[in-house]
Amino acid sequence: MSDCNCQFVIFGATGDLACKKLLPALYHLHCAGRMPDELRILAFGRRPWDDKGWQDFLHEQLETYASNYQADHFADFCKHFEYVRGEIHEPESFVRLRALLTPEGAERPAGTIFYLAIRPTDFIPVVQRLSGAGFNQEGDYRIVIEKPFGDDLESAMQLNEQLHNHFREDQIYRIDHYLGKEIVQNLLVFRFANLAIEAIWNRNYIDHVQITVAEDMGIENRAGYYDQAGALRDMLQNHLMQVLTLIAMEPPPSLEADSLRDEKVKVLRSIRPIPKSAVTAYAMRAQYGPGVVHDKHVPGYQDEAGVEVNSVTETYVAAKFYIDNWRWRGVPFYLRTGKRLAAKTSSVAIRFRHTPQQLFRETSIERIEPNWILLSLEPESLKIEIQIKEPGLEMRVRPVQLNASYRKDGEQELDAYEALLLDVMEGDKALFIRFDEVEWAWRVVDPIIKSWGRETDYILTYPAGSWGPDEATRIMDKEDHYWRNQL
Ligand code: BG6
Repeated sequence: MSDCNCQFVIFGATGDLACKKLLPALYHLHCAGRMPDELRILAFGRRPWDDKGWQDFLHEQLETYASNYQADHFADFCKHFEYVRGEIHEPESFVRLRALLTPEGAERPAGTIFYLAIRPTDFIPVVQRLSGAGFNQEGDYRIVIEKPFGDDLESAMQLNEQLHNHFREDQIYRIDHYLGKEIVQNLLVFRFANLAIEAIWNRNYIDHVQITVAEDMGIENRAGYYDQAGALRDMLQNHLMQVLTLIAMEPPPSLEADSLRDEKVKVLRSIRPIPKSAVTAYAMRAQYGPGVVHDKHVPGYQDEAGVEVNSVTETYVAAKFYIDNWRWRGVPFYLRTGKRLAAKTSSVAIRFRHTPQQLFRETSIERIEPNWILLSLEPESLKIEIQIKEPGLEMRVRPVQLNASYRKDGEQELDAYEALLLDVMEGDKALFIRFDEVEWAWRVVDPIIKSWGRETDYILTYPAGSWGPDEATRIMDKEDHYWRNQL
């Protein structure tokens, strides 16, 4: 087991994020022997429980959300937890917390991690109270927050300023859980550990790049948040943009957090600003109507509980970006994401250019398809599509896929949160978002947000269970560009 000496406080320990992601991730780390032996976890919540009440709740959540849940690990896992009944708007709760975290005479753990698994509107009140209770810039205190980091450029800047009033940038861990996904990290290895790949990774060979995150589920019970956010803020500005930076960045001088993050920021800064007058050429949005997903009838977005009447919030967005640097100038990056689509898949599809010579013109080969590199984040796979000659007398070609899918049977599968939680405990910030990344990602999408903010009376729809609106090809540069749904 790791001997990382820290303690953990989860605000919002009974909320959605904690139940579905954090508690199962901690449990899996425990079962895998990766949780520090001495790790103390304080679950902070409003419910009037004693430790037994918390343990019953924890048991129920793990049974529901943890994979391979085994009751015999539970008792040991439970020993890490203490339940703290408290109210985030009440200063006395923080005084109590302080007494628990720094008992007089006891040896202090090296680091204290505050995980804010709470509504974004509560971030600042909690940060102020923590700071007021003496947890601030002076010690090894780490604050973990989840997106959304603001809801536009301006609010993100304000949020950041308020955070920095109490904590230093190096104490703030901004999570984008996509960076914890194995295959997203594999992008770095794929690119920078393979000379053959890196040599063709540029505008001379690549025609365009597509990044897709498709979800089959709807908004579940999150209308309150989602109806204000929409797909652009919820997914594209963060998860898809992060994947884009890893595909497009230059090799960093080292794997140190700031080396990596400097390169990612350079990509974001090189994205061509979308002119106000041309937003429709770069981005389109739509909303799901009723339809059938996996043979089940589902209601349209407008009929979901909690959604405002006549809401024009987008549940689908497709956008195009150009990175104006030596490597990528002229190569469109197409990004799309949507809810209630035909399947849950996340992928990066990279299409190469056509061969420069029509060597097979005089044969029965009518057309040679370009090569593709196809990376699927979910389910994980990595393939290269090439053309080969069909066996036989005729000169015909067909595509085959070289499959580099890499997980061998029985190899450990880590959830994104498990990797990220370990990193927070170890103080490794490489996979966390620095504020300038947030800022530049907002700058990139800001013209779209502003333009859509003015168009409040109409939104295109697509049937639930489809691959989104046909009009999504509208933003593409060439007639032979199409969204690749099947890998
Ligand atoms: C979250 C979004 O950040 O990511 C959700 O708020 C979305 O709307 C989720 O469903 C998707 O994550 P994953 O890992 O299931 O692709």
